[in-house]
Amino acid sequence: MSEQQRASFGGKLSVILVAAGSAVGLGALWRFPYIAGMHGGAAFLLVFLLSVIVVGIPAMLAEFAVGRRTKKNAVGAFRSLSKRWSWLGYSGVLGALLISGYYYLIAGWSLEYFASSLSGGIFSSPHSFKEQFSMFQDSWRPLFYCFLFILMTHFIVSRGVEKGIEKASKIMMPALFVILIVMAVRVAFMPGAADGYRFFLSCDFAEAFKPETIMMAIGQAFFSLSVGMGCMVTYASYFKKDTNMVATSFNVSVLTLLVSVLAGLVIFPAVFSAGLQPAEGPSLVFVTLPEIFKGMPLAAVWSSIFFLLVILASLTSTISFHEVLTAYVAEEFNMTRKRAALVTTVISVLLSTVTFYKMFGVDFFNIFDYITANVLMPLGAMFTCIMVVWFMKRGFMSEEITNGGLCNKRFAGVVVFMLRFITPVLILYIFIRNFL
Ligand code: PFF
Repeated sequence: MSEQQRASFGGKLSVILVAAGSAVGLGALWRFPYIAGMHGGAAFLLVFLLSVIVVGIPAMLAEFAVGRRTKKNAVGAFRSLSKRWSWLGYSGVLGALLISGYYYLIAGWSLEYFASSLSGGIFSSPHSFKEQFSMFQDSWRPLFYCFLFILMTHFIVSRGVEKGIEKASKIMMPALFVILIVMAVRVAFMPGAADGYRFFLSCDFAEAFKPETIMMAIGQAFFSLSVGMGCMVTYASYFKKDTNMVATSFNVSVLTLLVSVLAGLVIFPAVFSAGLQPAEGPSLVFVTLPEIFKGMPLAAVWSSIFFLLVILASLTSTISFHEVLTAYVAEEFNMTRKRAALVTTVISVLLSTVTFYKMFGVDFFNIFDYITANVLMPLGAMFTCIMVVWFMKRGFMSEEITNGGLCNKRFAGVVVFMLRFITPVLILYIFIRNFL
């Protein structure tokens, strides 16, 4: 595809919303509040903020530079900069593939919960929410909703970059913010909410600065900002020459932090107000929260609104890793976008099925999650940082960051310094510790 033909995102706001759409997802809504609550509350927030600044933003900028300079899919991008580094593109594609193997399944759960909230069925059932969740898991419905989620993603991605991805993000991201703020305000008026704020925001510095916690914060920064998986490379390939990448990475990070904190401000006051204990992972969102909604007037309405929020946030993220694969298949195998999207969709359906049925007796769910978050993303990000500052022509990174000397001149030096000496070293340290 020539550069003229290649699609690009519209204005500044679109670029931010699309990239933030990828970032804001289950990571911010579901993973963050729990980790923060358990590991030092507000102090964890500080560690997370530092991880975003020192590791997340420089790594995102490195990916942006690779994508925008080459205007190619993840594999094509790394290969065209240097043949020796094309494996980094493949590692991104592999990451996107593995994440497709489990993310759609969780996203699908929120469709089921949205539907049963709308019908009121979830509140009229004679079974407890815990029983309902495990009965749901034991049925065929998770797979059905997972396929439905993949189809929704397929529909948006196959419509193309501008008409599909950009348009969807422009509608869904503002909707997500409005819903989240309405929920945060609603929850603040619940009796006993103060205990939740105390739990989420109490500051335990000793806990937050433990090496294990720092490791979690950095892992969360990767997952939440979608770096280390070729995703930001692919999206940046649709940036324009004058897109301010520093401002974009900054805005995306701020929005992600904001949603993460707001999610905590919705979930914990609600949990404590209902006299429940914060639980881990799926049960927090799919068992504890319905319990809370049940005690509220207009339970079905609030519950539907909440699960709609989870759907919107997940959808803008699934679009992004579907796009990593679609762009790769289309450009590397010379296919039309529609056909490439179809290939990606079929593969996603097969992978999710394998995960759902635990085929060959293997727990793919946790394996895929572990490999992406703890291996592919950190290593992908680390080598991308190393490549752009040590193995490209001198000035490659500063040229990209400053748009050829037009902006961000003061930042360029700082970012290049971090990419050279700080970010990869920190990632390596954490990576090694993780396995010792
Ligand atoms: N950032 C997304 C979330 O927090 O849910 C997950 C994600 C999307 C990770 C896309 C990686 C990616 F390429």
